[in-house]
Amino acid sequence: MAETITIIDDRTGKKVTVPVTNSVFASSALRELDPDLRMYDPAFLSTAACKSAITYLDGEQGILRYRGYPIEELAEKSTFTEVAYLLLNGELPNTQQLAQWNYDITHHTMIHENMRKRFVDGFHYDAHPMGMFISAVAALGTFYDDARDIFNSETLDKQILRLIAKVPTIAAMTYRFSSGLPFVLPNNSLSYAHNFLNMMYRIGDDYEVNPTLARAMDVLFILHADHEQNCGTTTMRVVASANSDPYSATAAAAAALFGPLHGGANEAVIHMLAEIGSVDKVPAFIERVKNGEEKLMGFGHRVYKNFDPRAVIIKKTAYEVFEVTGMNPLLDIALKLEETALKDEYFISRKLYPNVDFYSGLIYQALGFPEEMFTVLFAIPRTVGWLAHMIELLDDKEQKISRPRQWYTGQDVRSYTELQKR
Ligand code: CMC
Repeated sequence: MAETITIIDDRTGKKVTVPVTNSVFASSALRELDPDLRMYDPAFLSTAACKSAITYLDGEQGILRYRGYPIEELAEKSTFTEVAYLLLNGELPNTQQLAQWNYDITHHTMIHENMRKRFVDGFHYDAHPMGMFISAVAALGTFYDDARDIFNSETLDKQILRLIAKVPTIAAMTYRFSSGLPFVLPNNSLSYAHNFLNMMYRIGDDYEVNPTLARAMDVLFILHADHEQNCGTTTMRVVASANSDPYSATAAAAAALFGPLHGGANEAVIHMLAEIGSVDKVPAFIERVKNGEEKLMGFGHRVYKNFDPRAVIIKKTAYEVFEVTGMNPLLDIALKLEETALKDEYFISRKLYPNVDFYSGLIYQALGFPEEMFTVLFAIPRTVGWLAHMIELLDDKEQKISRPRQWYTGQDVRSYTELQKR
């Protein structure tokens, strides 16, 4: 029998019965009771703002799937560009489709010279790479006069391809600028992750990308590619709902990602580990967290209340990377923090577990990335997820421009008092 929910308005005695599917019922039921009725839901804790067929997440079970495929299988067997195709198109590509997709991405990696010479060179020498990334993505759109033609699917596909292909180039450019190093042009013979590492680190001819490290980078890209309706993706959908162009919307989503409660957490984890300094200081730090004086960065998640499946894969990848690069000295502190927290009633009762950011920063550091680049590394693959959600939103006939209502708590009407009389 179909499940239903009945809502009674005690003010009027009116009631409405509506279907509940997968624990979701349509809020139009409330409008049926009273068109002015609103649900107060700060931070959207109980609101499903869209239907989506891209990513499935079960926080209680620790499940994450892209288009039905478990993240564990994709991380083990797939590549980032294949996953990008899957997220955008709904199905895995066949051999020919994948070859074409990889070719297309590879041949759109170049950035207009003015982006580098005039735009990026205009930043202050110590500009944060993520600030540069956000601005550069928005600026990129100004180079394409068809950028705003979002209802022409061929044109939109071209922008999507450009964005996915060019975000690693922009990311590497921000790093090279910050380090005072000459820019390295994309190399069409390399894979996505390999090419990115090459643009980051090549100095003269003196750089060979280690295949284990390139694969680790690719796995990290896969793990970060999408995560359903998180803060950045919601930003993407809200901005895209106004029919903004994909470059502006991606820049807006990246701005949300920059926040330390979101994609900025991996950087914050390294700061935290460095500040703790040694394993023996871990218990005292945990006490400060429990007293509300500190936050255990890289712990806790709005949806995962058991474990974050990405954190499990990342921990394994970390050990593979450390075999090549040597141990990260902060790892022992991280392990001790995890061990202490997982045994402590404060964290157990609140269902706080390591999230994707807890170990990713340690890998990034071992790969040679400065902390300021960490969120940029998150933004590169998440660009794919954002764009998949933009396409889905534009195709969804039930969607309109996002425009939540509010619960007004301000002053009632009052008369203006002349300045001299205040
Ligand atoms: N350290 C200490 N206490 C915490 C933490 C933490 N990291 N996270 C949550 N709590 C406590 C919180 O104080 C609250 O306690 P109480 O019930 O006594 O008030 C309880 O746990 C519930 O937390 P919440 O703030 O209601 O949970 P939320 O769903 O609003 O926040 C979160 C989720 C991820 C913002 C939060 O856990 C947090 O700030 N974590 C640290 C930052 C972080 O690692 N962010 C990365 C998230 S994963 C990647 C991404 O989304 O980009």
